[in-house]
Amino acid sequence: MRIFSGIQPTGRKHLGNYLGAIRNYVAMQDEGEAIYCVVDLHAITVDFDPAELRERVYNTTAILVAAGLDPAQCILFRQSDVPEHTELCWLLTSVTAYGELSRMTQFKEKSEQQKSFVSAGLFMYPVLQAADILAYQTDEVPIGEDQKQHLELARNVADRFNTRYGETFIVPRHRIPRVAARVRDLQSPLKQMSTTASTEQGKVHILDDPDVIRRKFQAAVTDARRDVVRSPDKPGISNLIELMAAARGISPDDVEREYAGAPGYADFKRDVGDAVVKLLAPVRDRYGPLRDDERALEAILIKGADKARAIAADTITRARTRTGFGRPQ
Ligand code: AMP
Ligand code: TRP
Repeated sequence: MRIFSGIQPTGRKHLGNYLGAIRNYVAMQDEGEAIYCVVDLHAITVDFDPAELRERVYNTTAILVAAGLDPAQCILFRQSDVPEHTELCWLLTSVTAYGELSRMTQFKEKSEQQKSFVSAGLFMYPVLQAADILAYQTDEVPIGEDQKQHLELARNVADRFNTRYGETFIVPRHRIPRVAARVRDLQSPLKQMSTTASTEQGKVHILDDPDVIRRKFQAAVTDARRDVVRSPDKPGISNLIELMAAARGISPDDVEREYAGAPGYADFKRDVGDAVVKLLAPVRDRYGPLRDDERALEAILIKGADKARAIAADTITRARTRTGFGRPQ
């Protein structure tokens, strides 16, 4: 089985990224041939600074390795090192509808956040994402809930290309975790925890100091009741239950049972904070030395790109031929 996923080198990665995606990248290394990509080409679709972009690629790479990605076992690379992605992206535009791109929620949200300039790249973002996935003949894509719509688009595009030009791509499936697929903002639990949209208090960074994490959980917005149960009218507590379950590797039902009859939320919030601190501590400890060695990070990425390119080139040659480009094969 081939596994592929991409992660943006923007901002500092948070608990939602960790539970919704990164942790599953690590687990899936043992399930098949796993390929992970730091998607720097996607990062230029909103305002960015070139020097900072390079730094952020290293930050994200170091986080992934600290979280447990083993470059000897998986392929870890930087998107811009494999130009096949951009070529395939263009080929795929012929089977992507303007209307379907206009309906993408991420595009609608992000284009509203951009004050003065909405780039064409932001609109094309999901086509490049489809190219990332399809270039590797991917079977499964580990992602958080928010990326489901983009994956659906990639499936439609693959299907359409296969129908129109002949069987070329595997139509990929998503792999969304059962618990913590959409981690909520601690301050506005109706919204998801987000690098750009959440306030500092609303999100927990993987690299936050343990005391900072504990304080953020203590200050998490809940409700005026005192029962630790999941319910649509209790989005804050529901989120904390899911987080505790995910952090401790138990089910949300177990959490509810454990706190049945609790006198209020204080102990529960403290315990969730402690569980998250314990979960993230090993990643935080490993991060520093890894991030300090940029040459080693660069070596990982370059080696990964060589391996990735060998796979992608094969697919792109086929896609080119099917589309009517180049020498007939
Ligand atoms: P990004 O940082 O946008 O590249 O996201 C990397 C991965 O984290 C993607 O698979 C997202 O679906 C996932 N993700 C982002 N935010 C959350 C969240 N709040 N809860 C769960 N997963 C998330
Ligand atoms: N759009 C994804 C996100 O914001 C990142 C991404 C780019 C991705 N290419 C991908 C995810 C391919 C999965 C597969 O999180």
